[in-house]
Amino acid sequence: MKPPEASFAAFVAGNAAGRAVEPSLSRPARRRPARETRVSVLEPLDLPGQICDMRSPPPADLSPWFLTADDLPGPPLRWAELFGNDNPVELEVGSGRGLFLVRAAQLHPDRNFIGIEYDYKEARRAARRVLKRELPNVRVLGANARTVIPKYIDRGAVAAVHVYFPDPWWKRRHRKRRIFNPEFVAEIARILVSGGFLHSWTDVEEYFQVITGLVAANPAFAELPPPAEGDPQHDMDYHTSFERKKRKLGLPIYRACWTRTAGQ
Ligand SMILES: C[S@@+](CC[C@H](N)C(=O)[O-])C[C@H]1O[C@@H](n2cnc3c(N)ncnc32)[C@H](O)[C@@H]1O
Repeated sequence: MKPPEASFAAFVAGNAAGRAVEPSLSRPARRRPARETRVSVLEPLDLPGQICDMRSPPPADLSPWFLTADDLPGPPLRWAELFGNDNPVELEVGSGRGLFLVRAAQLHPDRNFIGIEYDYKEARRAARRVLKRELPNVRVLGANARTVIPKYIDRGAVAAVHVYFPDPWWKRRHRKRRIFNPEFVAEIARILVSGGFLHSWTDVEEYFQVITGLVAANPAFAELPPPAEGDPQHDMDYHTSFERKKRKLGLPIYRACWTRTAGQ
């Protein structure tokens, strides 16, 4: 017997989920009620003594900590316009949840830190961390580092570049998505001031070999001794969220540091 239209969908869905659904017995799939739309307005409550009920908090205003490329003045970027001072600027590519940005900014109030993160959800989460501490020396830029660095950042404008736990893109056919390639290394060499630093850590040994090979092939860099692994003093005492996650799993972390040589 040919199943009726509506129950055919349930039949297909049932099979896709590995369940046997008898087409002739299955009822038309019931539509879920649409999710209640949350509004960020104050709504009066009938309860005595209560003035209002905030059904959901309004979206936090993350300015000036969270920016997108549309908010940027320039190009090129003028750090003084962004931070209100001329202190040295350090850039983190793929800043994720912002643990490094927050810790580094607290440790070095005389330096500015900008994180570029193309996952807006993560970038906004990082900016909320910064907002909570009202750190004046951090900005999180929701953007693709591949496009924003060449377009917005001047030659020699950055004192250090940090790339921690870059996505390894395990599948061979996805490898071209890795952030580290000869062009990216050349861009880092361009934006770093002479005597500046590039730091990169990962738990993926194969990618680490690729990164160190790419940087070694660029004459603008000289390798320095890697930083030693410290014992965490508390649960958040890690360099980045990924370092925390990987070390808790007992995985080894591969660390490297280079300096930008003069010339080239
Ligand atoms: C594995 S996570 C590591 C996050 C953070 N560095 C840490 O150690 O916790 C890599 C991050 O890089 C970001 N990312 C990858 N390619 C990027 C790009 N081209 N521009 C900006 N962010 C990028 C990803 O969205 C992701 O949040």
